[in-house]
Amino acid sequence: MKEQFKRDVANGLAKKPKSLPSKYFYDKIGDALFVKIMNMPEYYPTTAEFEIFKSRGQEMIESMGLKPDSFFELIELGAGDGTKTKELLRVLLNGKFDFEYLPIDISSSSLDDLESSLSDEFPALQVRKKHGDYFNVLESLKENHLPKVILFLGSNIGNLTDEMSADFIYKIGSHLKPGDKLILGIDLIKSEELVIPAYDDPKGITRDFNLNLLTRMNNELGGGFDLSTFEHTAEYTAEEGVARSFLVSRVAQEIPIESIGKSFTFEKGERMQTEISRKYNDEILNNILKKTDFKIIKKLTDSRGYFADYILNRF
Ligand code: AVJ
Repeated sequence: MKEQFKRDVANGLAKKPKSLPSKYFYDKIGDALFVKIMNMPEYYPTTAEFEIFKSRGQEMIESMGLKPDSFFELIELGAGDGTKTKELLRVLLNGKFDFEYLPIDISSSSLDDLESSLSDEFPALQVRKKHGDYFNVLESLKENHLPKVILFLGSNIGNLTDEMSADFIYKIGSHLKPGDKLILGIDLIKSEELVIPAYDDPKGITRDFNLNLLTRMNNELGGGFDLSTFEHTAEYTAEEGVARSFLVSRVAQEIPIESIGKSFTFEKGERMQTEISRKYNDEILNNILKKTDFKIIKKLTDSRGYFADYILNRF
């Protein structure tokens, strides 16, 4: 992990323009800041997707053709605190569906929390938590031939370029059999007025989330970043549909990173890209799915049309 982080930082800061992988947002501090982000009024994806799960669970189940008498595995990639999924679990349990819930997460502490809240709220639910990397876990689940429903929510796919998304979804499909399902939650293209505040909020929670990357490099790699010399910015146009976050150096400076044994030069106003958050429409998604073994069988949106959960069938 540490070696990979070092390599990614060394590569990202040597690039022109500079960039860092957004997966490094999520340490203990970053996880807590992301929970705060999900609770901000400006961060519409959480409320929008929650509404879909709260009000369209029955439809979701019907469109997948699930039957109470045949067992299936419900597998969630990056389960987090499971708030949205619990809405679906409630409908499944009330309908006496026969299934096991397998949350996968790289954070073992969040999995432990999820497990204990599930056993309080749904004592009858069968849960088997899986700690680790999505694909290692999917690989291990491939062994059995049980029908599977995969959940990949929250527009987490949006951190990938369209090409990487196609590879990722193809790879999920390679661990499944025909008739298995993927529920993919994605943020829809909408106006700048709605998207920009979600990624640059007035309280500066997203700024702190972004700056935490500098704190991590300081703490884990012996970096010399002075956080007050960097500014958070977000950029988005509805035309392109991609939100990008940056850290901008306020001054010209040289930043040493001890464990890399090198210093990196920042010009005044130089931007380092830290995240892309892709927004979608049917055309963009269809272009991605062309390169995979999935077909859309249902699209569920919230009442404002901000977010969609697509039910995909592995063919
Ligand atoms: C967790 C990747 C879906 O891109 O909207 C939130 C992360 N970054 N605010 C997103 C995030 C800044 C989020 N995803």
